[in-house]
Amino acid sequence: MKFFIDSAEVAEIKKAAQSGIIDGVTTNPSLIKKSGRKFEEVVKEIAAIVDGPISAEVVSLTAEEMIKEAQTLLKIHKNVIIKLPMTEEGIRACSQLSQQGVKTNVTLVFHVNQALLAAKAGASFVSPFAGRLDDIGYDGMDLIEEIVGVFKTYGFKTQVLAASIRNPEHVRRAAIAHADVCTMPPEVFHKLFYHYLTDQGIEKFLKDWDDVRK
Ligand code: E4P
Repeated sequence: MKFFIDSAEVAEIKKAAQSGIIDGVTTNPSLIKKSGRKFEEVVKEIAAIVDGPISAEVVSLTAEEMIKEAQTLLKIHKNVIIKLPMTEEGIRACSQLSQQGVKTNVTLVFHVNQALLAAKAGASFVSPFAGRLDDIGYDGMDLIEEIVGVFKTYGFKTQVLAASIRNPEHVRRAAIAHADVCTMPPEVFHKLFYHYLTDQGIEKFLKDWDDVRK
């Protein structure tokens, strides 16, 4: 499973990328707003840190406008992936961009049927939002499992990008479900390293080693 960082905070992305195991980055308009910075600048800086797909989202509502926006976003960096909303217009734009060889990520997916539409339109990635489904009382990870199964059945090449990840348990479930990618906030990524038995074990080894040297 590939690890993407879901953030527009350049310093946080840099810190996570120092691990050497970050494969890409996802951003969205809310994350850009939170960063308080200019979109283009942020994407350029991220591209200098992570050599992998960087999702940049369009904000237009018609396919024609989305495609126009995509042309501008694609000029920022060769690793930019065009993030499109899961709407009829978004799927129309996805179809056309895919035919031109542009890589896309269909976002705000909450149902297997929506994922199927995105795959049929040639999306490179589809982003089911697990956490937001949990928020309204569903098990968001069930959706990831369903989509992975359906894509496998029909041989779609579209990668399942588990999104709206809120905790390490989501990451575990995404991996068990065979998601291709899991995009997570930096704080969730850093939590993955921790286990109290690891800390306890290190403490004991160091203490015993001190005794050996006495
Ligand atoms: C994914 O691409 C989205 O940016 C993100 O995962 C949304 O997460 P949230 O539901 O925590 O805002």
